[in-house]
Amino acid sequence: MATNVQVKIQGIRVEEFGSPQVMKYADFELRAPGKGEARVRLHAAGVNFIDIYQRRGTYPVNLPWTPGLEGAGVVEAVGEGVTTVKPGDRVAYTSVPGSYAQAIIAPADKLIPLPPELSFEQGAAFPLQGMTAHYLLHEFHKLQPGDTVLIHAAAGGMGLLLVQWAKHLGARVLGTVSSEQKAKTAREAGADEVIIYTEQDFVKESKCLTDDKGPDFIIDGVGKDTFTKDLQAVRTRGHVVIFGSASGPAEPVLPNSLQARSITVSGGSLFNYMNTREELLMRANGVIQGIKEGWLRLKVDHILPLREAGTAHEMLENRRTTGKVVLTCEA
Ligand SMILES: NC(=O)c1ccc[n+]([C@@H]2O[C@H](COP(=O)([O-])OP(=O)(O)OC[C@H]3O[C@@H](n4cnc5c(N)ncnc54)[C@H](OP(=O)(O)O)[C@@H]3O)[C@@H](O)[C@H]2O)c1
Repeated sequence: MATNVQVKIQGIRVEEFGSPQVMKYADFELRAPGKGEARVRLHAAGVNFIDIYQRRGTYPVNLPWTPGLEGAGVVEAVGEGVTTVKPGDRVAYTSVPGSYAQAIIAPADKLIPLPPELSFEQGAAFPLQGMTAHYLLHEFHKLQPGDTVLIHAAAGGMGLLLVQWAKHLGARVLGTVSSEQKAKTAREAGADEVIIYTEQDFVKESKCLTDDKGPDFIIDGVGKDTFTKDLQAVRTRGHVVIFGSASGPAEPVLPNSLQARSITVSGGSLFNYMNTREELLMRANGVIQGIKEGWLRLKVDHILPLREAGTAHEMLENRRTTGKVVLTCEA
């Protein structure tokens, strides 16, 4: 296919911020790939909580906007100077906006070779959440065998990957979830203990489960409802990483309140942990290796057609999902 032409595609367009209903399925034109870029014909797009923050207008994006930062498909055309991929290559990626569509223009150096063992749905499920699990478990508190880690929303897309990876590193894993059904899912992924935090006080329960010391490390993507309590739950000299706000932004804390028990806190954003192609591939290949070796399973529990992106968002933001949500992008 010629490189220097626009193509007509279909996908989601957003003209105003708001509820899932602002996402409309529409026809639009995709420009030709420029220097260093590739056009990827998408088979699947990953749905992530950040898409919801952006759709609501909580995180800034320019309108009109096509949601989605993650996908998988086949390279269809490349621009000048591209040497890392060629037409016909299967690829996956994250951090390229506009993925709720049939095709995308991506910087070629962001494309991850997708091995034949992984389906396109799996390819759209692993980059953002898998590489996030990688940096969260390797860049802050280095887990030692026997350490206890507490993972909030343990049956979610992030949660299930973190549970499995922390177990692989030899940790004892405590998870929190909102329901018995999700507790079962988290246990199946390997969580040693699961606290239903809508019914039980996770501070009290996690202390009880650790001889009153508290977890060594807490990984929190829930935010408002959990972060202040994390600081009570974590052990003296323990570490809390806050990397999301599914329940809303965390309450502020006074730095001196961390002093008495020497608690450390980090903030995490994947976009700071794949600064070079080498770093991107190191993290992506770490995830792929885990999948190939069988200790990391991608649980793609919800696959919906692109037209139903609104339903996918409603399910995710209303806590009705477990594992990963993926949209299929074929016409
Ligand atoms: N900073 C980064 O690098 C990065 C990268 C990826 C994801 N994240 C963050 O990680 C978190 C999880 O993302 P995900 O895509 O994997 O989503 P997810 O965990 O599959 O879904 C969100 C889960 O959060 C829990 N939750 C608690 N209170 C909630 C509320 N008021 N509303 C909605 N959900 C609530 C729910 O689990 P329960 O029902 O069990 O409570 C829900 O299923 C998000 O905060 C996201 O922004 C951050």
